[in-house]
Amino acid sequence: MTRIGVLVSGGGTNLQALIDNEKAGKIPHGKICLVVASNDKAYALERAAKAGIPSAAVRRKDYSDQDAYDEALVSVLKEHDIEMVILAGFLSILGPRFIQAYPDRIINIHPALIPSFCGKGYYGLKVHEAALAKGVKVTGATVHLVNEIPDGGRILLQKAVEVQDGDTPEILQRRVMEQAEWILLPKAAEMLAEMIEEEKQS
Ligand code: GRF
Repeated sequence: MTRIGVLVSGGGTNLQALIDNEKAGKIPHGKICLVVASNDKAYALERAAKAGIPSAAVRRKDYSDQDAYDEALVSVLKEHDIEMVILAGFLSILGPRFIQAYPDRIINIHPALIPSFCGKGYYGLKVHEAALAKGVKVTGATVHLVNEIPDGGRILLQKAVEVQDGDTPEILQRRVMEQAEWILLPKAAEMLAEMIEEEKQS
């Protein structure tokens, strides 16, 4: 069983999708063993508590620089023997020390079809504002491996979602979450967890 850590910052709807899919037996090779929030007010922490999952808040502002923050995050994950990391609405920057601690073991959900509307400054509603401003007819979500380049790692899964007349950023965000994010992230989690299990057996 691959031990999964989930990093969150906000409402935790992607975390909830992971929890619900694990309960439904759709992530047979993985188990969510820890939730780490970048702020102690994140509702995602409530969701973890309700699901009986251990959690911690590691706030960026408590650390002097990126290396110290990376090391604090890595040590709490390693204390819980976490083998793979899922970024689910996580909004803090992760530096090279974090990435190097989990090479090809970190996945992120981005609410657009990378390479569109991604990279520095594209997160949350801003992504959907940009898609609407550009007038795209199709957007969607991407799950990718995380490396040093923001939204730059290998793409694992993508799913298209149509943009409808009259969409506001909030309406579009909700549709992308429901029709893409909440489907792709659990699927990608199981893919990576299974790959890690197979490597452990080989
Ligand atoms: C959403 O914008 C989602 O697209 C992105 O992070 C934000 C919050 O997600 N992945 P969540 O509800 O905290 O999972």
